[in-house]
Order: sequence, then C-alpha cells, then structure tokens
Amino acid sequence: MSATIEQIIEALRPVEDPELHRSIVDLGMVRDVNVSANGVSLTVVLTVPGCPLRNEIQNRVTTAVAPLAPGGNVTIDFGVMTDAERQNVRIMLNGDPSSTAGSAQAHGHAEGRAIPFAAKDSKTRPLLISSGKGGVGKSSVTTNLAVALAAKGHKVGIVDADIYGFSIPRMLGAERDPVVIDNMLLPPEAHGVRCISIGYFVPDGEAVIWRGPMLHKALEQFLTDVFWDEPDYLLIDMPPGTGDIALSLSQYLPKAEVIVVTTPQPAAQKVARLSAAMAKKVNLPVRGVIENMSWFTGDDGKRYELFGSGGGQELAEELGVPLLAQIPLVPELREGGDDGHPIAAVAPTSEAGAVFHALATKVEEMRPKRIFSKGLKVL
Ligand SMILES: Nc1ncnc2c1ncn2[C@@H]1O[C@H](COP(=O)(O)OP(=O)(O)OP(=O)(O)O)[C@@H](O)[C@H]1O
Ligand SMILES: [Mg+2]
Repeated sequence: MSATIEQIIEALRPVEDPELHRSIVDLGMVRDVNVSANGVSLTVVLTVPGCPLRNEIQNRVTTAVAPLAPGGNVTIDFGVMTDAERQNVRIMLNGDPSSTAGSAQAHGHAEGRAIPFAAKDSKTRPLLISSGKGGVGKSSVTTNLAVALAAKGHKVGIVDADIYGFSIPRMLGAERDPVVIDNMLLPPEAHGVRCISIGYFVPDGEAVIWRGPMLHKALEQFLTDVFWDEPDYLLIDMPPGTGDIALSLSQYLPKAEVIVVTTPQPAAQKVARLSAAMAKKVNLPVRGVIENMSWFTGDDGKRYELFGSGGGQELAEELGVPLLAQIPLVPELREGGDDGHPIAAVAPTSEAGAVFHALATKVEEMRPKRIFSKGLKVL
C-alpha cells in the first residue's frame, strides 16, 4: 500500500531549511504533494529565486521521501515565495518590527528593531576578541574558537567588526553572499558558524572609506537586521586599535565580555594592555588573555620560542584574569585561514587544533559575569 499525503508531510517535517534551521513544512515551503503508483511528486517553494542552497534542499527532501515513494521515485518542482509569503516567514522568524517598537525605542533605536543581545533575558554571550595591535591573530582566534564552540553543539555567530580590514568570510570559508528575506539578512554559514561581515557588501578589491557614523550604523545593522536566531555565543572580531568601534559595541552589547589576544613579546603586551584599559573605560569586563604564536615545535620535537616568552602570563596576572590558552605557531593555521579551512575544523586533534578545543571548554566553563546593583562586578 502506498503512503498517504499526510505520511509524506510527516516524513518531511524534520527536514530543515539549511539556512533558516526550521522545518520546511512549518515554513510553508512544501506544496502540492501527490502520490501515485509511479512515485511521489511535490513542489518546494524557495524563499528567494536562485537560492544558493537549492541542491542541498533537493537532496534532503529526496532522502526523506524516497523510502515512502513507490519505486523510490521522487519528483520535485521548485517555485519561489511571493513577497507576502516572504514577509510572513520573516515575521515568523524574527518578529514584527512594528510590535517591538516599544522596546526598540527603549534601546534608542527608534525606527526599527531593538538589538536582541542588549535585552535582559538574552541568552547570548557576546565575546569581544580584542588586542590593541594588528596582526597578533585576533581573526584566527575568533574563527577557530567559534568553530570549536560550534563543534561542542553550541549555536555560534561571528560579527566581523573589522570594517576596514575584514577577513572572517575568507578565514571561515563562508564567502557566499548573504541571502536577504524581506530586509532580513541570513548570515552565511560554514563549519556550523554563521557570520556577517562588511566584506559581503563591498565589491572585490575596493576599500571601505566610511566615517564614524556610517560604521556605527553598519554595526548596528549587523546586530539587528541579521537572523542570528539566538546564538549561545556571538564572537566579535575587533579591529586593531581601541577606537570608535569598541565604544559603539559597548553600547550595543552591554553584556559583552572581552578576551585579549597578545603575543609573548613585551611590545605586544604593552598595546594589549591598552586594549584592556579601553575595556575598562567602556565598562566591559576582561575575562582572559590568549597568547598567540607562543612557540614553534621543530622537527626535532623541541619548542622554539621565536617571539620570547611569558608575555601572556604576565599580562594575565597584571589584569587579574586567567591565561586561557597558548597557541603555537603552526604553518597549517595560516594556510587554513587563507583557504577557508580553519584548523579547529579540519585538524581538531593537531597541536594547534587541540588548543582551540580546550579553549572552547574554558570559555564554556567561565561563568557569565554578574553585575550587582551597586555596580560591583563579580567575574
Ligand atoms: N598561531 C599561528 N600560527 C601561524 N600563523 C598564524 C597564527 N596566528 C595567526 N597567524 C597568521 O598571522 C596572520 C595574522 O593573523 P590574523 O589575521 O588572525 O591577525 P589579526 O590580529 O586579526 O590581524 P589584523 O589586525 O590585521 O586584523 C594571518 O596570516 C594568520 O594566518
Ligand atoms: Mg583581523
């Protein structure tokens, strides 16, 4: 006896849209299911024309339906949602901006949505990965820590706040442009991590030449207009320096915790100290120090401390926070960053890969900060 239409729909219910992470049945994407002696046919309506994940959806639907289809034959027609249907999907996922206007205003964001991460009941832990100085490995740490947290089953997002020197889409291997549904941006995803970056919005090879207010607005949109879907962790890859962006972010993410990246030599430490001073100024707690490029393990198995030693530990002691990790210098880490294969994903048990997974455990175990009413912070 062949399956009923209801049985086909039930088989499709666990199938998720790869970007929205919701059932394609609940999203209203499944139409016109028909069962005949020759097989099952149905229509899947995509959220946007030319949906980049159409093949993935096709595979998922076929796999779910084939066992119930006569002869294993599944025929899928593809359609596209209307504007009104897209709007419904957006409201279902992200709420109706007009109905949240009250709280939006409360957060000083008059015309649109409130920043979800500023809400008291937000379960997201925003982590600012910062360093005073350029080139110490903030973006590499952000990418690999995010991948390691996602591998533990957490929902993780990255905001590339380095507007002038964006690098996360390439490092993470998420270079496909974001899909837009009714003004809501779907962050591209790779290795279980979603990310948003100005890199998606500037033509290749062009530089961003925005001034302060534009940067401010772009960051705000990254937090409000992107479908983050309540991540457990939102990692922010900070630009080098201690300027405007940190100030904006501290307002948008009042619950953010700061992690300072440094290298072992005293010069780097000095600037990392500046970054910690900045965190203090904007009233965000520094939770720990990560020392990067700590040593290089030679073929002889010996550790060579190319950039000196002890800098991370010293800075951690000075700030009264733990040294969370020491990351070795490994060529595979740079190569993985250049071609979108983060070492934490492709070589999780390698020398550096394992460090990132241990770091993720430490971050997990750090209790979120609590703030008492008198302004006394307990870390
Ligand atoms: N532990 C490491 N081993 C080998 N290469 C590394 C390591 N950490 C970082 N790198 C490489 O060093 C370069 C700088 O790292 P990264 O871009 O992560 O630093 P950053 O602090 O984000 O720099 P910027 O200030 O320019 O944004 C990259 O090419 C990266 O692949
Ligand atoms: Mg960077």
